[in-house]
Amino acid sequence: MERETWATRIGFILAAVGSAVGLGNIWRFPFQVGQNGGSAFLIMYLACVLLIGIPAILVEFVIGRRSQRNPIGAFHALGKSRFRAIGAVCVVTGFVILSYYTVVAGWVLRYIGGSATGAYFGSEEAYFLEIATGYDAVVLHAVFLAVTVGIVMLGIKRGIELAVKAMVPAIALLLAGLAVYALTLDGVVDGYRYYLSPDFATLAAEWTTILPAAVGQALFTLSLGMGVMITYASYVGEDQSLLVDSGSIALLDTVIAFLSGLILFPILFTIDATPGDGGAGEFFIGVGGAFADIPLGTIVGVVFFVTLAVAALSSAISILEVIVSYFIDEFGFDRRVATFGVGVIVFVAGIPAALDMGTFEVYDQVTGELLLPLGMFLLVLFVAWVVPEESLDELLKGRSGSNLDVFWLWWVRTVVTVAVGLTLVLSVYGFAV
Ligand code: PHE
Ligand code: NA
Repeated sequence: MERETWATRIGFILAAVGSAVGLGNIWRFPFQVGQNGGSAFLIMYLACVLLIGIPAILVEFVIGRRSQRNPIGAFHALGKSRFRAIGAVCVVTGFVILSYYTVVAGWVLRYIGGSATGAYFGSEEAYFLEIATGYDAVVLHAVFLAVTVGIVMLGIKRGIELAVKAMVPAIALLLAGLAVYALTLDGVVDGYRYYLSPDFATLAAEWTTILPAAVGQALFTLSLGMGVMITYASYVGEDQSLLVDSGSIALLDTVIAFLSGLILFPILFTIDATPGDGGAGEFFIGVGGAFADIPLGTIVGVVFFVTLAVAALSSAISILEVIVSYFIDEFGFDRRVATFGVGVIVFVAGIPAALDMGTFEVYDQVTGELLLPLGMFLLVLFVAWVVPEESLDELLKGRSGSNLDVFWLWWVRTVVTVAVGLTLVLSVYGFAV
């Protein structure tokens, strides 16, 4: 059977943006800012997206478009089967990320209802602890996964591309609306100050911890290190400029993350909550506490969590597609069968995370801090030293050549390799102690 392609270039870009924009922008980014020194982190993060994120997107893009394959099959198609273990790391990472990402998304679904009825108002912490693990968490994990499976089953053009064309503009509009609303809050001045006033002193003093956190967040937020961008680029048929596309994708993802900060910090400062006290749960508890308190909290809460759910969905479909494309390309599975089967396995894999908070945190840390940097590091080494010529050639298609391409390769070999490698080392070290 003929392999599918995107119907339009904008469809491909929106799918990649849909993958990028997710819980990472709205849930993870603000608490990373909070834990890593506020505006100091923001500066480092922006630098990482520009200097490491964009070149790294291109690393995945050239592999995908060149091979027209899933992340494992790509190595074979490039005549480098020896390196296919790199692709296996990607697919395994995809399994783990998806299985707990849909658990968080399940919490988000629950919070849509909880905001509408005010169920958590006044008892934010008890509410989170009650819903985060157990029977309900498993059920909502299944519900969210079922929707994800439903879209991916429909294929590239009729499933993913159609879905993201509706979802991505909706996310942007809803967030813009929320940012305008945040301007009316009492906490806007303090929130903006905390978020935006440049803090070079903290940056200079703590860069050794801020740097790996910023690189890690840049990879996570751009969906890098597990083959999403390889897979999505493998459905690009024509020779469009990957360079331009990577820039657009990174820009849109950054705008969305930035907007989330403009919403969340005023909200948190309005109720005098300190940003960044903790991770996953603290976010829901803190934000929930704010919605219980601020004007129009019920409506704003519903809109906020609906936006978050849509953003999570457009990311979840991209992770599922990585795994599904592997089974279709390599074993000739029917798409519907492959999608359903993978969905069932991911559901089972997510159950431990949905039952126990400690297990959940292990899933999150092992993928975010270890597997994604590892996958990205291996992909970078592969492009930079195993297939540099082919990669350059692929990058040149669809546009006239320039010194920029040669510069990209040099940059990947030096700065990107060192930064991602250093992040990996520091993360491993962080796990060891
Ligand atoms: N980029 C997504 C987000 O910001 C998360 C993600 C990571 C998606 C890795 C796919 C692969 O939420
Ligand atoms: Na993101």
